[in-house]
Order: sequence, then structure tokens, then C-alpha cells
Amino acid sequence: MTKPIALLDLGAQLSRYRDRALAAMTRVVDASEFIMGPEVARFEAALAGYVDVPYAVSMSSGTDALLAALMALDVGKDDEVVTTTFSFFATAGVIARLGAKPVFVDIDPGTFNATGAALQAALTPRTRALLPVHLFGQMTDLGDLWSSSPVPIIEDAAQSLGARLHGKPTGHFGSMAAVSFFPSKNLGGFGDGGAILTRDERLAERLSILRVHGSKPKYHHHIVGGNFRLDTIQAAVLEIKLEFLEEWSTGRARNAALYDQLFAESGLIDRGLVKTPTKSPGSNHVYNQYVLRVENRDDLQKFMSSRGVGTAVYYPIPLHLQQCFSYLGYNDGDFPNAEAACKEVLAIPVYPELESDSIRRVVDEISAFYRL
Ligand SMILES: Cc1ncc(COP(=O)(O)O)c(C=O)c1O
Repeated sequence: MTKPIALLDLGAQLSRYRDRALAAMTRVVDASEFIMGPEVARFEAALAGYVDVPYAVSMSSGTDALLAALMALDVGKDDEVVTTTFSFFATAGVIARLGAKPVFVDIDPGTFNATGAALQAALTPRTRALLPVHLFGQMTDLGDLWSSSPVPIIEDAAQSLGARLHGKPTGHFGSMAAVSFFPSKNLGGFGDGGAILTRDERLAERLSILRVHGSKPKYHHHIVGGNFRLDTIQAAVLEIKLEFLEEWSTGRARNAALYDQLFAESGLIDRGLVKTPTKSPGSNHVYNQYVLRVENRDDLQKFMSSRGVGTAVYYPIPLHLQQCFSYLGYNDGDFPNAEAACKEVLAIPVYPELESDSIRRVVDEISAFYRL
């Protein structure tokens, strides 16, 4: 029996930091300081330094980071926030939770990201923010809109920490960028976590108040916030793991390049059976996911599973067709690029420690499926 290949094997990286992470967790336990404290402050400083922004405000999750970012802009009832229909649910869920209206746009079929033109075309007098998503680890290139947008831009950078566009990292473009430390993200914690990156001192201050129920000092509530704090134990672990992030991103990009080469050599692309990810010019993709577009996706996925290769579909249903958003009145056919992507996308293993033999085997298995 051939060895299974997981979509993501976090165990493969564990030996790099296991002892240090456990020692850091022990320190937090021994100090019995589980909320905020120096570990959180140190991690925030390290994260801000990594992306070269003055402020990183840690949060309890990527979802809460997005929610707090919208709250910091006072987004609420009767407001519209324009975003992509092809993303993880949280991107739109946070807009709806504040009583605002998610306004969806279609994606570019190559990069899977919304375009600046599409986001701009959806602006109305009610638009309070744009929420582009840097899907799968590649930044959305909004071109001039980054600086000319009439409303603040929040980057959903949950999947793109470490990615760059024209040399500048995620977090440098919008008013705020929300990142996630969900364990499967390129920088994953030992549980949930998130952060907001910003260059704006006023927003950083507001976010740090919002994450403690809007209070400063304690028990004096100026605004209604929430409990959006990152656990101290997570901060202690993430500070250590951050040291490896560049190396891991390089490993992911190396694996992606080998896939690109092997798929090109396989003939699958020429035969129109497989399409490898499109890189937008000037962008450093960090491949949180390596996502193919394939013919006969569901059968291929079953075949790969029978061959012991882990794959995943991100995402099977676009946001505008989710049942909970039926009140928005969108229909099947409204965003054909995203709807087609939902039927064709398949993420294959790309984690940094994946060996080249395994990469070759993944491509061989896909070739075998189409020869059946
Ligand atoms: C694009 C996107 N936005 C938001 C989130 C929410 O992050 P979290 O799971 O940390 O709440 C995720 C990750 O799950 C995501 O992939």
C-alpha cells in the first residue's frame, strides 16, 4: 500500500518548534497569566515588525478581526460593504452580523480574486467599506483603487500573511488587514487566533478598546465592543512560529513551482483537463492553498481519496447563493466566474515539508485518473 499524502500535515513541522512552544506554554501556565500580558505585547510587536506596519492588534480569531475592523469603522444598519462572492463564509458573515448589507462581486477566473473594476462598479452612496480577499495566499491587486477608493478598504488577509504585492506586504494597502491564525493557515496557532494590521494609530487604539468590550480604563465603556482577545498561550506559541513563516512560505512556493512544472509536462493542461493557479504580475503568492481547476472534479476527488491523497474543495457554494443570504435576492447565474469555480476547484497538498516524491505522485495520480 502506498503511503497516504495528507492535504496538510502539521505534524511534519512540529519538531521545529515543539519543545520551545511547550516551554513557552509552561511559562504562561506557571505565571497563571492567561489573559493579555507581555507575551501578547511581544507577539504583536514581532508581527507588526514582520509586515513592517506600526500596529498589530491581536484578536481572538480571523473572524473577530474582520468583525472588529468593521466595528472600528462604525459599519452598521443601512450600510453596504462590497466584497467577493468567492471566499470563506466569515468574510460576508461579519458584514451581515452588524446589520449591514454584503454586496457581492464576481471574481477573475484566473486568480480567484475580485478585481478592482468589479469592486468599484459596485460602489453606491451607501458603501461604507470595500472588503477584498487575498484568496489562497495571493493578494488582490486593486491597482489605483488602493489609493483612490472613496471608502476605507479592509484586506481579508486571513490566507495571505507574508504575501507581497509589488514588493509590499499584506497590511500595507488597506486601512486595516485582518489575518487568521487558524491552525491550517500559514502561521497557525494551537487553536483559534487572529490580528489586525494597520498603519493608522487612531484605528489601532480603537481596535484595542473594541477587543475589551469597548472599555478604557476597565469598566468604563465608551463604545460597545466584544471579547476579541487573543489567548496569551496562543501569543506565546505564535511568537515562536512566526520565526519560521518566511521559510515555510518559501517551501510552499517551491512546491507550487514544482507542481506548475510537472502539470505543464504532464499534458493535462494542454488537453484542458487541469488548470494550474494563475499568478498575477508583481505578486508573491504564499500558497496557503494550491488550487487547481479541473474537469470532472467530484470524481477526481473521490479517486484521489481512494488513492490516499487528501484534497479539499474551497469553496463548493459561492456566498451569494448561500441559503442564509437568500434575503439579498441574488440568483444562480449572477456571478458566473465564481459559480464555475465552485464546480471546478480542487486544493491539493502543498505544505512546506511535502517531499518532491509526494508531489510527483500527486501529479501521477491525477494523470492516472484522466487516463481511466
Ligand atoms: C478568507 C478567510 N476569511 C476569514 C477567515 C476567518 O478566520 P478564522 O477561522 O480565524 O475565524 C478565514 C479562515 O478560516 C478565511 O479563510
